Amino acid sequence: MKIAIGNDHTAVEMKNHISEYLSAKGYTIVNYGTDTEERVDYPVYGKRVADAVASGTCELGILICGTGIGISLAANKVKGIRAAVCSEPYSAMMTRRHNDSNIIAFGARVVGPATAEMIVDAFLEAEYEGGRHARRVEMIEGIENGKEI
Ligand code: RB5
Repeated sequence: MKIAIGNDHTAVEMKNHISEYLSAKGYTIVNYGTDTEERVDYPVYGKRVADAVASGTCELGILICGTGIGISLAANKVKGIRAAVCSEPYSAMMTRRHNDSNIIAFGARVVGPATAEMIVDAFLEAEYEGGRHARRVEMIEGIENGKEI
């Protein structure tokens, strides 16, 4: 599975850790993040990963900034993106299963490397259930397309 990963300056070490962790498991990781601790603007990296996922270049995405919030807000402005900020694995699993989220975000200043591993595992190993959840995901897409709900 091809995964897009992106980060700002607060999360270089975490990005490297998670990239190595997932590569060792056989995932193909494409790096869209910054690689130095020089201050950068997180929306740039949120958009890069969102574009990679929305275009189908990568199947799913991982975004990391200080909190995971700013970078996910930026990603969610791209059509077709459902980015969820999760600080624990249960939510990470459920947002795949019920919301068909295609990007997981978390904060390098919020969770440690071991929790981050559990979050990405829970997200990548879960599957969207469709069924009764599909109508709600379609409603979210409707909002994106200016439809009344
Ligand atoms: C950068 O200082 C910080 O604001 C950013 O990484 C992120 O936490 C924003 O939501």
